[in-house]
Amino acid sequence: ASTLGASAAQSGRYFGTAVASGRLGDSAYTTLLDREFNQVTPENEMKIDATEPQRGQFSYGNADRIVQHAASHGIKVRGHTLAWHSQQPGWMQSLSGSTLRSAILNHVTQVATHFRGQVTWWDVVNEAYADGSSGARRDSNLQRTGNDWIEAAFRAADAADPNALLCYNDYNIDNWNDAKTQAVYRMVQDFKSRGVPIDCVGLQSHFTGGSNYPSNYRTTLSSFAALGVDVHITELDIRNAPTSAYSSVVNDCLAVSRCKVITVWGIRDSDSWRSGESPLLFDGSGNKKAAYNAVLTAL
Ligand code: XIL
Repeated sequence: ASTLGASAAQSGRYFGTAVASGRLGDSAYTTLLDREFNQVTPENEMKIDATEPQRGQFSYGNADRIVQHAASHGIKVRGHTLAWHSQQPGWMQSLSGSTLRSAILNHVTQVATHFRGQVTWWDVVNEAYADGSSGARRDSNLQRTGNDWIEAAFRAADAADPNALLCYNDYNIDNWNDAKTQAVYRMVQDFKSRGVPIDCVGLQSHFTGGSNYPSNYRTTLSSFAALGVDVHITELDIRNAPTSAYSSVVNDCLAVSRCKVITVWGIRDSDSWRSGESPLLFDGSGNKKAAYNAVLTAL
């Protein structure tokens, strides 16, 4: 096939991109979006500060615009993200204890209910583990409400939208030997053994070239998959977009049958949160880069 989405679809996979609602009026942007991708992730529009800017007052306009655009072009949506320590509105940052616990669970319930039937996969919880060798949870206001907060968020999302596929998403869980990877693996193993609803694990995969794209990435993907969850590469971007690294990531995914989604974190380099590093598949003028051809060939 001649596009990323159509090529991924040949093996039952999705090739997606992060999308910013503010760019949907740019026809150069939407031309690439609608031609190349069969999955989108709202880059910021479904985060807590966007969807519940004031406590109990929900704001869905920008997220709904992305969902509508996707629906009218046959593109599937990964929702991102229901619970996270970052991009919280001020009111939530100032809460703690049982008040915060009810606020975050209400948030999960309300947002998952609003998008029921329109979001195929949800990042229910994002970035809950600490970097480094501790294998511990990240300290955050949410973590301080009790160690079971992640499980509670997954149960609330499942109750609100029983058909959505529910994912845990994080970065630096690429190297199978890292303590953070092992800690997330044990959480997923525990959830599966106790029937906590979890369907997928997302590896953000913000790579800097060689150094943090590990040679055992495929082992990590297949090890998570062996727990009975799908694996997604959710926020792929690679400093300077080396063709070899992009091909390897795609080859690693294709080698694992439960690796179902590859999402790049933006369309053109100029759209990227790391725009100074030219990490994406299209240049600022929308031209295909060498990395694009490497990915298309590998798919
Ligand atoms: C980033 C967005 O790309 C930026 O526009 C925003 O300013 C900050 O967040 N991990 C995540 C994403 O899960 O939500 C982040 O997205 C990048 C890191």
